[in-house]
Amino acid sequence: MKVLVTGGAGYIGSHTTLSLLELGHDVVVLDNLCNSSAESLRRVQEISGRNVEFRQVDLLDVEALDAVLAEFQFDAVIHFAGLKAVGESVENPLAYYQNNVVGTLNLLHGMDRAGVRTLVFSSSATVYGASEQVPLHEDEPLNATNPYGRTKEQIEDILTDLGAADPRWRVALLRYFNPAGAHASGRIGEDPRGVPNNLLPFVAQVAVDRREKVTVFGADYPTPDGTGIRDYIHVVDLAVGHIAALEFLTSRNGVFRWNLGTGRGSSVLEVIEAFSEAAGKKIKYEFADRRPGDAAISYADPAAAQDELGWSADKTLAQMCEDQWRWQRKNPLGYSEVG
Ligand code: UD1
Repeated sequence: MKVLVTGGAGYIGSHTTLSLLELGHDVVVLDNLCNSSAESLRRVQEISGRNVEFRQVDLLDVEALDAVLAEFQFDAVIHFAGLKAVGESVENPLAYYQNNVVGTLNLLHGMDRAGVRTLVFSSSATVYGASEQVPLHEDEPLNATNPYGRTKEQIEDILTDLGAADPRWRVALLRYFNPAGAHASGRIGEDPRGVPNNLLPFVAQVAVDRREKVTVFGADYPTPDGTGIRDYIHVVDLAVGHIAALEFLTSRNGVFRWNLGTGRGSSVLEVIEAFSEAAGKKIKYEFADRRPGDAAISYADPAAAQDELGWSADKTLAQMCEDQWRWQRKNPLGYSEVG
């Protein structure tokens, strides 16, 4: 297949691009590089021994987007491009609605004009909001609690309406739980700009002495050790999940949604412990107040993806930490070291 990957230079996008190449698919990456690095694609090419076409295009630039859709005959699009920081979305909601919702509308119009109607969309478990109906099932009502989450929810609605109006569309909405880890080569991984918002990259930066200690948000949750519980999923398992969804869509019209998670929860302290084990050193931490908006417990019911896609996430938390540590150890400053 010839696949357009938007946001393909980012964390999940680069791992999915690599998996596609390894399976023999041709990939064109479209990315504006606002929160990613072209170096990730250079390394993806090096690992796979295959070429990736790259176009530095912003989804808000309709002309440039249409030119890419006209230049290649795509069979499908995997759409990762978007802004993803919850706190920033609260401070600057218009940027989030503009980039995520308007950007996606531009992409959908362009795809429609080009006659490409197969799409895998990067949604998030954040659409379930503060629901603690664990394990979270796809039928749970959506109730995102911040602008970032609402952009994901709105895009899901747009795609659901589009599929109902035009049965030629084939759409997968993938609700990721907490992506973690890196490719086993240690050559590609997560490289957040500024202070990481998410737990794993923060812990990894403490492990390489870029930061002094982890702040654990809340020690008084109703969980066995008092810290929040999440469903961490290895980014390579996640990448493979996208390809399983793409394969499913080759024979099915309609709009489908799946949780991509492991179905297992780990606490913040368990993550810190597993990372300490992987890195062979103590990771310093201190307790602080809860972070506003955080749920106590979130983990997936992954049965639908398993039954319908024949996919499951099998890599353990220990593997995620080992792989994330290898990436961070080899690239303490991320991709920026190569300038
Ligand atoms: C966050 C976002 C979510 C987004 C997801 C993936 C919020 C409220 N939610 O999910 O919308 O889809 O990232 O990008 O931001 N923690 C610490 N110390 C830290 C960082 C996190 O104790 O420095 C704790 C959190 O309280 C939580 C767990 O670690 O219990 C995981 O946090 P995080 O990695 O930010 O993911 P989520 O909050 O689940």
